[in-house]
Amino acid sequence: MSVQQMLKVFVTRRIPQEGMKILKKAGMCNLSVWDSDEPVPRAELLKGVAGAHGLLCLLSDKIDAEVLNAAGPNLKVISTLSVGFDHLAVDEIKKRGIRVGYTPDVLTDATAELTVALLLATARRLPEGVEEVKNGGWSTWKPLWLCGYGLSDSTVGVIGLGRIGLAIARRLKPFGVKRLLYTGRQPKPQAQEVDGEYVPLDTLVRESDFVVVSSSLTPDTQGLCDKTFFSKMKKTSIFINTSRGAVVNQEDLFEALSSGQIAAAGLDVTTPEPLPTNHPLLTLKNCVVLPHIGSATYFTRGVMSELTANNLLAGLTGSEMPSELKL
Ligand code: NDP
Ligand code: DGY
Repeated sequence: MSVQQMLKVFVTRRIPQEGMKILKKAGMCNLSVWDSDEPVPRAELLKGVAGAHGLLCLLSDKIDAEVLNAAGPNLKVISTLSVGFDHLAVDEIKKRGIRVGYTPDVLTDATAELTVALLLATARRLPEGVEEVKNGGWSTWKPLWLCGYGLSDSTVGVIGLGRIGLAIARRLKPFGVKRLLYTGRQPKPQAQEVDGEYVPLDTLVRESDFVVVSSSLTPDTQGLCDKTFFSKMKKTSIFINTSRGAVVNQEDLFEALSSGQIAAAGLDVTTPEPLPTNHPLLTLKNCVVLPHIGSATYFTRGVMSELTANNLLAGLTGSEMPSELKL
């Protein structure tokens, strides 16, 4: 392919080399990369995407009408290095006939595993315990010191029993969970595998000892976990969110945690990201906040990068994508 025929591709960040190798080897892309581990500034994104045939982006890049207009009519494909696609203006993208690739399945295990780790760390107060060892707070073995809540005989409620939600349920069941409740837009046949009971959200929130959010962020789930939601939870219950920060009203969560309305919360996702270091949630011992690392294993990120590159190439050549988002 001559240089003139090469298809312009803008990559909004340094990505794992597995994906870059595939793009380079394909020999059809004139690659322009925002060569940094930090997000591309908006002005550079608008400049970089101009005239592009393909855009490889991350969940931190807001791809809206302004970006699509800046790209212009060449743009055939957007491939995101994520399964979540709430950062993409899907209606605008569809209107322009642009195809979208994303990364379902390949990160399910890593994200479910992290969710279980976060749940256990929060319920058994691991960060507090580690801190006490370091700061001299560990004076002796005390019967009620650093007690938390266990999964054995508990009721777990999963909001959004999708790929990741089901993988979380599968991992939690062997801990001795007594009831596994779930909610969503419709019952799921695959819930049988974990003896899942489809219940209304209200029932799930009232009856669960652990509420785990693993739904996608949509207009329906935005702000779903608010004052009313937390007021229905048991005082001894634990709230876990590894979906998207905007599912939670963080002021209401702070109030619920600081007033003792709920026992503790573990969050892998927040609004904004990063959460400012002076954010009130970070002053609470009963709130464990992680920096959005659900899929962060070397292997998973490598496979995500490969899949993102292959989706992009398929979009450029008009062939079947390994994982195309149906718009
Ligand atoms: P899926 O599409 O398989 O699952 C999404 C689930 O959300 C579906 O079960 C869907 O239920 C449910 N859902 C949608 N609307 C609602 C609603 N109103 N109430 C309750 N549930 C609802 O996606 P994945 O499991 O692969 O990923 C889920 C999300 O996890 C991603 O969108 C992303 O935001 C987040 N994620 C976070 C990661 C991290 O690093 N923390 C890593 C990977 C993903 P139904 O089928 O009934 O519509
Ligand atoms: C996603 O893929 O949506 C996650 O948030 C990051 O892996």
